[in-house]
Amino acid sequence: MLKTNPIKEKIAVYAGSFEEKLEAEFTSLNKEYASVVEACKYSLLLGGKRLRPFLIRSFYELCGGKDDGSFGFEAAIECIHTYSLIHDDLPCMDNDVMRRGKPSCHIRFGESTALLAGDALLTKAFSLAAKANTESAETKLRALSVLSDLAGIDGMIGGQIVDLLYEEKVANEEVLKLICSLKTGALIKASCVIGCILANAPEEKISAAANYAENIGLAFQIVDDILDETSTEDKLGKPIHSDKDNNKSTFVSLFGIEKCKSLVDKLTDSAKDSLSVFGDKAEDLKQLADYLCNRDY
Ligand code: IPE
Ligand code: IPE
Ligand code: MG
Ligand code: MG
Ligand code: MG
Repeated sequence: MLKTNPIKEKIAVYAGSFEEKLEAEFTSLNKEYASVVEACKYSLLLGGKRLRPFLIRSFYELCGGKDDGSFGFEAAIECIHTYSLIHDDLPCMDNDVMRRGKPSCHIRFGESTALLAGDALLTKAFSLAAKANTESAETKLRALSVLSDLAGIDGMIGGQIVDLLYEEKVANEEVLKLICSLKTGALIKASCVIGCILANAPEEKISAAANYAENIGLAFQIVDDILDETSTEDKLGKPIHSDKDNNKSTFVSLFGIEKCKSLVDKLTDSAKDSLSVFGDKAEDLKQLADYLCNRDY
């Protein structure tokens, strides 16, 4: 009998309705530029764990948020994440030909369309967030500010830049932490914090969510680096050994697989401890941390 995992099933149920609403947001006004819309939908809609929007929704509901008030930001974060993947795969970046189990956007549509699809997704993100059905304009502005800061130079982009710089040299632990917590941790942190902000949570809960995110964010990238070494292309839906081929410094190249696994366990425990302020209601998010730590794709 197939083993079931309750949190995996919850994410799958969430992903189904999220994707339906997300698809409805992508229609082109003019057939002359339909190709870029097709490229956006191709990368955005088929595949992807939907971790970041699920985190927004989970913290939003955990903090008492109601109805669909967080959808605009859920859609926005997935658009930003997908744009980052399209650009990350380009020949001038990691030069990877497969993503989410299909040819990468630039392989399927060509480099210029992929570049513009990434740009379109980034700008669409802020349009979707601006239209979110939040309780107040102040709440929306605060969430927008967190989103733009953590997606930008002092967030995801900063991490991607340092990641590329260190293809030429060996990164030490401190630099690796910086790379991972920015290139991957920043959007995960934005997700957890924005979920709380949209539900008007008190500062104590917002900082607990940030703490949880910092731990799962770093763990998530270390697992990504482990899987790049140990998994298969079929399972991951993206090429393996991309890091070695690009001469990347990773936690795996610095510490080896076993030490990385125990680091991931420690970070997962710290993430779960950060949730104490939410009491029993945070059980799903604890399960999520365990699931991410043990994931195989
Ligand atoms: C991949 O993120 C890129 C990293 C930040 C490690 P995910 O593993 O969440 O990718 P999808 O969304 O499931 O494709
Ligand atoms: C990418 O890290 C992080 C972002 C796309 C911002 P990686 O380059 O390791 O991600 P994968 O392995 O290509 O998904
Ligand atoms: Mg990369
Ligand atoms: Mg990559
Ligand atoms: Mg990787």
